[in-house]
Amino acid sequence: MTRKYFYPVFIFSLLFLVECRKDTTPPAPETDAALFARATSGGYTYYKGDASVHHSSPQSAHGGFFRVRFNAIAQAALTDQGKLPTGATFPNGSIIVKELHNDSTGTQLHGYAIMEKLPSDTSQADGWIWAEVNTSGAGYTINNKGAICTGCHSIDDRDHVRLFDLFP
Ligand code: HEC
Repeated sequence: MTRKYFYPVFIFSLLFLVECRKDTTPPAPETDAALFARATSGGYTYYKGDASVHHSSPQSAHGGFFRVRFNAIAQAALTDQGKLPTGATFPNGSIIVKELHNDSTGTQLHGYAIMEKLPSDTSQADGWIWAEVNTSGAGYTINNKGAICTGCHSIDDRDHVRLFDLFP
């Protein structure tokens, strides 16, 4: 190749490589702050449209009282009478928030247990991101990769969500 052609071809190849890299760059990893902001924003639907607060099942580590809500992406997958069909999986970007309450009045919220479906994120375990925090967003961070969560949550066959079988 003559000099005349070398530089244009070289620069073109470089640009081409940079463009390709852009396309394959994975999305920025999830953070505790971003997840907390999303989990406490609007656009959620309570399980079966029922906003009442229930006593946790004896199988729960979270104790006390709770209600669960789903973001729009997760909600769209609840096609089996408000539940995820057996053997199905939630779409990426699904967020499930378990509000943790001290009693059943609905006014004594003290924190959130959160699951976010992001199988390609560096903090995922079993396809989900896991956090359990107080109302300021501090607590069990996503960096723990759900180490204390996944044992209980892998028991059933509805994509790691316990509620559907325990509160049908
Ligand atoms: C000892 C077992 C156990 C452990 C450990 C546990 N969970 Fe749960 N979790 C449950 C049960 C049972 C439910 C169903 C609701 C209830 O009875 O409170 C539940 C409900 C949830 C829900 C609502 C969706 C669903 O699965 O029903 C979320 C979100 C959640 N847990 C997140 C977490 C996170 C995050 C952790 C770790 C920090 C965790 N859980 C650890 C047992 C557990």
